[in-house]
Amino acid sequence: MIGASSIAQTPTWSEDVACIVYSHCAPCHREGGAGHFSLTSFTDAYTYRNDMRDATQLRLMPPWPPDQDYRTLAHERVLSQDEIDIIAAWANGGGPEGDPGLAPPPPTFSGNWVIAQPDITARMEEYVVPPSTNDNYRAFVLPINNPVNSHITGFEVVPGNTEIVHHVLVFADATGQAQALDDADPAPGYASFGGIGVSGAKLVGLWVPGADPVFTPASMGIPLEAGADLVMQVHYPAGSNALVDSTRINLQLSPGGFIRDMAIDAILEHFLTLTDGPLVIPANTVKTFHNQYTTAFPATITAIGPHAHLICTSMKAFAVAPGNDTIPLIDIPAWDFRWQGLYQFRKPIFLPANTVLYGEATYDNTANNESNPNDPPEQVTLGEATTDEMMLFYFGWTYGFPIDTTIVVDIDPHPAHHLDCETSFPIGIQDVVLKDDARYWPIPSDDVLYFEWKKGPAEFVLRDATGRSVCALRVTDGVNEVDLSAVRAGLYLAEVRDREGRLRSRTKVLRQ
Ligand code: HEC
Repeated sequence: MIGASSIAQTPTWSEDVACIVYSHCAPCHREGGAGHFSLTSFTDAYTYRNDMRDATQLRLMPPWPPDQDYRTLAHERVLSQDEIDIIAAWANGGGPEGDPGLAPPPPTFSGNWVIAQPDITARMEEYVVPPSTNDNYRAFVLPINNPVNSHITGFEVVPGNTEIVHHVLVFADATGQAQALDDADPAPGYASFGGIGVSGAKLVGLWVPGADPVFTPASMGIPLEAGADLVMQVHYPAGSNALVDSTRINLQLSPGGFIRDMAIDAILEHFLTLTDGPLVIPANTVKTFHNQYTTAFPATITAIGPHAHLICTSMKAFAVAPGNDTIPLIDIPAWDFRWQGLYQFRKPIFLPANTVLYGEATYDNTANNESNPNDPPEQVTLGEATTDEMMLFYFGWTYGFPIDTTIVVDIDPHPAHHLDCETSFPIGIQDVVLKDDARYWPIPSDDVLYFEWKKGPAEFVLRDATGRSVCALRVTDGVNEVDLSAVRAGLYLAEVRDREGRLRSRTKVLRQ
């Protein structure tokens, strides 16, 4: 018999599932992490096995709102279809543990910093969140005593209390205004709604739960003026009463040499660039807004960070270069206020002068929107409170050169695994392909394998003789390039699966 049901074995925790869970779930699902329960042992995972199956099959977990089929981004927090299938087969098979001796050791999270030896590290004073039923946005000034003009090339936020630190924006302020505001307030920091109340402060980074440290692309850095203060705005949600936080920030600075200034700016925003404003969403309406901005000079963009609040339901941005080439940038089809970030591109994107940037966002201010803070719905307008709305697209950008697109930020087909562990269960290997018209070349292949595909968004996987995945990437219609430079010589099976996990193509590939 052929088909998925002929898989005789069930994957085990120790050999197959632990690696996936320790790599992709434990960073949030651990003691003190953002996820509300731990997934750091067999017992934990066994307890939640069915929820894990459902949340991963629906692609709700790990949380990764951008649509990969619109554009793949750097450091995507996603599971491959194989990994999803292994969790499901394990849960459906009763969640066997297998031989505990074969499981990778659980990851340890002793507050390790990724930037192990930061050039600047600073921590805010301990702040006890006062009782309140409202969200609390507070800015803290970190005097960092940086004596010379420098460039930030790496940025890491280490939340003091992961249960209450919901997001952090970090600004550089060379005007002293933030320090004056802080001095005027006897408690640590000062109240700040939306911005930090300082004109001229520059955004240098932002952090949300689950976000990894951000490193700027090679030869680019965010300027940090001599003597500037770092100002950290922290959002504590309502109900954080009497809890204590002391969040830290670690910066890596450029050691010198040639470095280009880059900036993080909301280039598409809800006021000057809004073409169908003002941003007013009457009660019981669903409205879509657009913003648009034409670049005056060649620019290279390295990252994009869409931002809106609660009643937003989708956000999308793209660019149209002179000559009408459309460049997809990001599509978040199901906007979720809880998961926002500054998403880096896998390689910087070059935009010639007179490229038009377009943003689009839809807001559902009806009672059907579960995230609507008002019951019954009330008119929502542009504003700083979480219950107001916004429409921003932050861009990491610099003056552009066409060659910038050769800078590699991330070309790994799949995020690195905990201790480089591997899953070995040969799932799906017996599936049949009904009709296969994908074309592959050259045969044999060397560093690059090309293949032409016409069946819509899909996942490409290269397997070795044991069925183990050695390379996986998302593909779209057209000629796709698979980087085989890191793949050893030998015979492999190339497989393509559609969004539903159905096998659509299988071919032998000989890597020279
Ligand atoms: C970036 C942090 C993060 C990662 C990574 C992550 N989770 Fe979660 N998870 C959360 C948070 C936070 C919640 C709480 C519910 C919420 O706010 O949506 C949650 C909730 C859940 C739930 C409860 C049901 C649900 O859908 O809300 C399950 C099950 C779950 N996660 C499984 C997983 C599995 C399995 C993985 C790895 C494959 C994973 N999570 C990876 C943060 C994360």
